Amino acid sequence: MNDKVAALLNDQINKEFYSAYLYLDMANFYSRKGLDGFANWYEIQAKEEQDHAMLMYQYLQNNGETVTLEAIAKPDKNFEVLMDPLKAGLAHEQYVTSLINTIYEAAQEVKDFRTTQFLDWFIKEQGEEEKNSMDLITKLELFGDDARSLYMLNSELAGRVYSAPSLVL
Ligand code: FEO
Repeated sequence: MNDKVAALLNDQINKEFYSAYLYLDMANFYSRKGLDGFANWYEIQAKEEQDHAMLMYQYLQNNGETVTLEAIAKPDKNFEVLMDPLKAGLAHEQYVTSLINTIYEAAQEVKDFRTTQFLDWFIKEQGEEEKNSMDLITKLELFGDDARSLYMLNSELAGRVYSAPSLVL
């Protein structure tokens, strides 16, 4: 594998684990607020991020590359009101999309079509992640000011269940 592509993928493993950590901190924030449904939603989001990291880890190993695990940064966002994690989540997903695009571009440059095909799943996944983040913001904008509506929204988010990623290596 091209050195730059391998290095970017290796770095992305760390970024995905950081995402998991960030989302776990969001779950932590909502738990403290008594919103177990929101917390559940973000705990599952954290698990998905670990899956993303592990897919990249496995992909590099499958291609004979050495994986180097780096320190995971401390989640450094401050949340005060219920909307804060949702907005931070959307901004974070947009950032991750840009990272995935950069790896895709690097792979394309060296005609590494195996990696672009591997990344196709992530490109689509990022579209879903951004949409989910935007939907949550819209719902909280619509229903967040009314206690009964917020209760219903929290109950809806409590129903999210984890499912393993559709991409199998
Ligand atoms: Fe791994 Fe939320 O992107």
